[in-house]
Amino acid sequence: MKKGSGPPGGFVSRVEVRRAALVHNIREFRRLIGPKRRFLAVVKANAYGHGLVEVAAIALRNGVDWLGVHSAGEGAALRRAGVSAPVLVLGYVPVPMLEEAVEHDLRLTVYNRETIRRLAALSRKLGRTVRLHLKVETGTWRQGVDPGNAAAFAREIGKHPGLVLEGLSSHFANIEDTTKHDYPRLQLEAYRSACRSLSEHGIRIPVKHMSCTASTILFPEPEFNMARVGIGLYGHWPSKETYVSCLMMKKRPVSLVPVLSWKACIAQVKKVPARSSIGYGCTYKTTRPTVLAVIPVGYFDGYDRGLSNVAHVLVRGKRAPLRGRGAMDFIVVDVTDIPGVKLEDEATLIGTDGRERLTADDLAAWAGTISYEILARINPLLPRLVV
Ligand SMILES: Cc1ncc(COP(=O)(O)O)c(C=O)c1O
Repeated sequence: MKKGSGPPGGFVSRVEVRRAALVHNIREFRRLIGPKRRFLAVVKANAYGHGLVEVAAIALRNGVDWLGVHSAGEGAALRRAGVSAPVLVLGYVPVPMLEEAVEHDLRLTVYNRETIRRLAALSRKLGRTVRLHLKVETGTWRQGVDPGNAAAFAREIGKHPGLVLEGLSSHFANIEDTTKHDYPRLQLEAYRSACRSLSEHGIRIPVKHMSCTASTILFPEPEFNMARVGIGLYGHWPSKETYVSCLMMKKRPVSLVPVLSWKACIAQVKKVPARSSIGYGCTYKTTRPTVLAVIPVGYFDGYDRGLSNVAHVLVRGKRAPLRGRGAMDFIVVDVTDIPGVKLEDEATLIGTDGRERLTADDLAAWAGTISYEILARINPLLPRLVV
């Protein structure tokens, strides 16, 4: 949808996705990845809250080669939206759901023999080739086979003519949270040992990938011929530590522009006397006659309850602090010092208003979490407008 073509009669709350910012970030990562390696945009979790189909369409038109999703359901949604590009499922597909994944020609991350056996049967039944990415466990202890077992798994896959071992993947555990990179180096070594073992068994792997945003910036290792980039595409550094590491390594930081804004309308403006208790639990008491603006957004929409009494929103280019507890569908902010606020004025929860700006990183710091969670939990039911 274009700007201004939202639901008739206004909106309660909506997410705006800035195409130019997304394209800018994609270009920055393409520069780092280089022209020859594949670029996979991680669009799981509704494209980190930005809108799966909207982001996929922009990414594929602007130089992204593959898409990465968590579930077969997300992959199927992309196919139903007409996406024909390679889609890799990064998460787990339960055995009874594999048929849907094969029918939609999704590439699958595998690490269980049960999955391989079922896929072999499905490839015969449906007459389809199924492309697999074997995941090796290098120390995240989440998904994958031991590097020492990679060759045995690859041989098992190779027994079935309908299965193609296309990729070898792994995932870093501790690259964002620190400026010390001994652990990712150990993980890299484990990944390399799996590669060596496969090549000693004469098994060739066309697509090798382990990188996320932080490692694409910090460790552009030559053997990886595909990068899986998530948070950076959406305009955020994975962490302050990644930024500091980048400076410590004397690398030029990538320029990242936040893509998402979240706006809501003000549902009521009211004057309350001093010493009024605000919201559930009466956790805030006004200290002076106060003007409150009620915003119809709450934790159901993904506005974290941990932001109660600490966050700000922007109204008329100024910061309005949250008063009282955020509820399921409402938050209340103090606009006493912002003249002229009226019904259905716009409140910016994330984004820019005049000279003020609130980022997902600001909300994450207030809520004690990371930008990933702030973004990914914005309710998918809210309209996404590409502007
Ligand atoms: C398997 C896998 N690859 C890549 C990514 C992308 O990570 P980032 O968003 O830090 O780029 C993720 C994110 O969680 C992931 O789980």
